[in-house]
Amino acid sequence: MPKLLHLQVACAENRVIGRDQRLPWSIPEDLAFFHAQTAGQVVVLGRICFTHWPRAALDGRRPVVITRQADLAAPGVQVAPSLPAALAIAETLPGEIHICGGERIYAETLALERPMRLHLTLVHADIPGDTHFPEWRHLAWRELDRRDRADANYRYTFFTLERP
Ligand SMILES: NC(=O)c1ccc[n+]([C@@H]2O[C@H](COP(=O)([O-])OP(=O)(O)OC[C@H]3O[C@@H](n4cnc5c(N)ncnc54)[C@H](OP(=O)(O)O)[C@@H]3O)[C@@H](O)[C@H]2O)c1
Repeated sequence: MPKLLHLQVACAENRVIGRDQRLPWSIPEDLAFFHAQTAGQVVVLGRICFTHWPRAALDGRRPVVITRQADLAAPGVQVAPSLPAALAIAETLPGEIHICGGERIYAETLALERPMRLHLTLVHADIPGDTHFPEWRHLAWRELDRRDRADANYRYTFFTLERP
């Protein structure tokens, strides 16, 4: 049986997740949560996310990078040309599978007919950006957990949602 897929995303109310290849906000608690969730696990991510995340291959993470650039492979870093190919590699590695974006990878994952858990940090603001999380609210999620939080700049909610 394939492993449960964990999706990790922080998204604004207008579904923005990125701007100019970076996060469009700084929310230290969310970043710490993301790092804790993915430490020691397999992380599946696009080439831009990988190149801008210095800790992708640290803290025991096993990255599987989706790219056509085979030369990104390195000790402890695998590359795959598509999401299905990346998931096939991820299934062979120890640990949970965490899908870490970007946009197209999230869209292709949400379209899969298989169990998944969405770890969503919803930032309660409309934020300008150029990269989006697909609309997820119409899908049949079961809410496992919700924590409302705030810092000096943002109100945000940590959701754990699951789909069978
Ligand atoms: N807020 C969040 O939780 C969050 C999470 C993730 C990302 N982000 C933000 O989103 C932005 C990066 O995401 P992005 O969507 O622009 O880029 P990305 O997915 O990280 O990288 C895009 C590249 O990955 C490869 N790729 C991606 N999907 C593919 C697919 N389905 N099949 C084959 N190759 C694929 C291609 O690489 P090649 O061109 O090398 O072939 C493509 O050019 C940044 O601003 C980042 O900060 C935010």
